[in-house]
Amino acid sequence: MQVDLRILRYDPERDQKPHWESYAVECDPKMDRVLDLLHRVKYELDGSLTFRRSCAHGVCGSDAMLINGRNRLACKLRVEQLGKRRITVAPLPGLPVIKDLVVDMDDFFDKYKSVQPYLVNDSPVPDTERPQSPTERAIYDDTTKCILCAACTSSCPSFWAQPAYVGPAAIVNAHRFIFDSRDEGGDERLEILADADGVWRCRTIFNCTDACPRGIRITQAILEVSSAIVGRRI
Ligand code: SF4
Ligand code: F3S
Ligand code: FES
Repeated sequence: MQVDLRILRYDPERDQKPHWESYAVECDPKMDRVLDLLHRVKYELDGSLTFRRSCAHGVCGSDAMLINGRNRLACKLRVEQLGKRRITVAPLPGLPVIKDLVVDMDDFFDKYKSVQPYLVNDSPVPDTERPQSPTERAIYDDTTKCILCAACTSSCPSFWAQPAYVGPAAIVNAHRFIFDSRDEGGDERLEILADADGVWRCRTIFNCTDACPRGIRITQAILEVSSAIVGRRI
């Protein structure tokens, strides 16, 4: 089958503004993913096309992009799933474009780092491990699955309206440690997220949950963090 692949192109050295370019690409809709189509364009039609990808198997989170109007991982989406012969691909919305489908992720990672996404525990190190029951582990299991693809934050209208909003990805990664029974930095993280640009910017729009390629219940995690801020009187 041949598909009409429309890609929003932008080269800051040549273009005044982004523009659409179309490519007729042969594909097997059952087998080929959108990433395979992009590879076909780059290797066979136009080597200047620029995009990120690494693992090609939904693990590294580097190829999130706007595909037919929804944020998706190009390597996880088969052409058949789209059910159309015309496929549009654009960079993640709300983030500065560096070139073609590559966006600037610096601010995204700064926000991620701002919530201390690592275990904080200054207690003396025990002789063996720090034990945790299966029930305690289950409380934050969902939020351990994040691959930092930015599909959630860049699909959030609150983030588009107020780019200072820390965003759902950072909150998900804060949640992963706030509710870890071995961690002692929860209150500090909650204080950070109680800021004007923290969790209160969320309007429960659910775009983030819909966009997450890992199926993380992001909106629920945000509400759990908000409740903890109130419950712990932060
Ligand atoms: Fe991507 Fe989901 Fe992590 Fe957001 S929460 S960065 S959508 S994996
Ligand atoms: Fe945005 Fe998700 Fe909240 S889309 S408003 S962070 S529920
Ligand atoms: Fe790694 Fe798609 S290339 S998640």
